[in-house]
Amino acid sequence: EINIELPDEQAAEAAQRIKIGLYFATWWALNVVFNIYNKKVLNAFPYPWLTSTLSLAAGSLMMMISWATRVAETPKVDLEFWKMLLPVAVAHTIGHVAATVSMSKVAVSFTHIIKSGEPAFSVLVSRFLLGDTFPLTVYLSLLPIIGGCSLAALTELNFNMIGFMGAMISNLAFVFRNIFSKKGMKGKSVSGMNYYACLSMLSLLILTPFAIAVEGHQMWAAGWQKAVSQIGPNFVRWVVAQSVFYHLYNQVSYMSLDQISPLTFSIGNTMKRISVIVSSIIIFHTPVQPINALGAAIAILGTFLYSQAKQ
Ligand code: 3PG
Repeated sequence: EINIELPDEQAAEAAQRIKIGLYFATWWALNVVFNIYNKKVLNAFPYPWLTSTLSLAAGSLMMMISWATRVAETPKVDLEFWKMLLPVAVAHTIGHVAATVSMSKVAVSFTHIIKSGEPAFSVLVSRFLLGDTFPLTVYLSLLPIIGGCSLAALTELNFNMIGFMGAMISNLAFVFRNIFSKKGMKGKSVSGMNYYACLSMLSLLILTPFAIAVEGHQMWAAGWQKAVSQIGPNFVRWVVAQSVFYHLYNQVSYMSLDQISPLTFSIGNTMKRISVIVSSIIIFHTPVQPINALGAAIAILGTFLYSQAKQ
């Protein structure tokens, strides 16, 4: 007879690992679905400022309903909390709209290849703005990240400068978002889910006037009519799907950020990008040259080396 009973500590660790695994799998799956609907919408309706506003609005609405119906506990937050959240929300808004603008101009896979370079931005910001220092191996791991992203960008068949810059700006903004939100979540009693809910609401307030100024209701109305006449009622379903899935994947990612270190989080995020890159290439029949794929692979390998070096 084999005794498979585990000591308590080991059992708890195994349970935690399963829980994190489930969070990660859910996060990636939701993200793949978001990316596909988001691109389908943008192909038919190229107004990324509106679609990114709608994603935040859907999340805000879902959370308000959850609080009102007590599905989720209403967070107890004060003015101090909102003040601390403001820089996080500014960074989240910029990162989100920049990524969406990028995806409206280039293939989803290209945006995510450039976004796999986020660790390089994180190191550079920490080094030059915060004065942190890292072991030499961390700096060396940036070489394949930067080299791989550059190779992928140079050999991208449908390169577009706005698409490239959008993904770069998103990288920079999200580095600040992560630094600020780590500070803001520390010592607070607000759960990851509610923290992200408040973040969406504040970002929605920030983004709405800019979206109206940049695109505006006349463009939206004309574009909407055109998209509905081309695609039919499915178009509205796609818009709802991209908005709801955007909220859900971010919510799950913040729920997991609650449980794991920022480093584990960023490794999870890179693995997420592999599934998005592969699935979007298949679904949208994105043309890729071998040298282009090699660049992406080098960049992603660099991210793994970076995570090893940081450990
Ligand atoms: C967005 O719209 O905010 C981006 O798709 C987010 O990208 P990320 O969560 O994959 O970094």
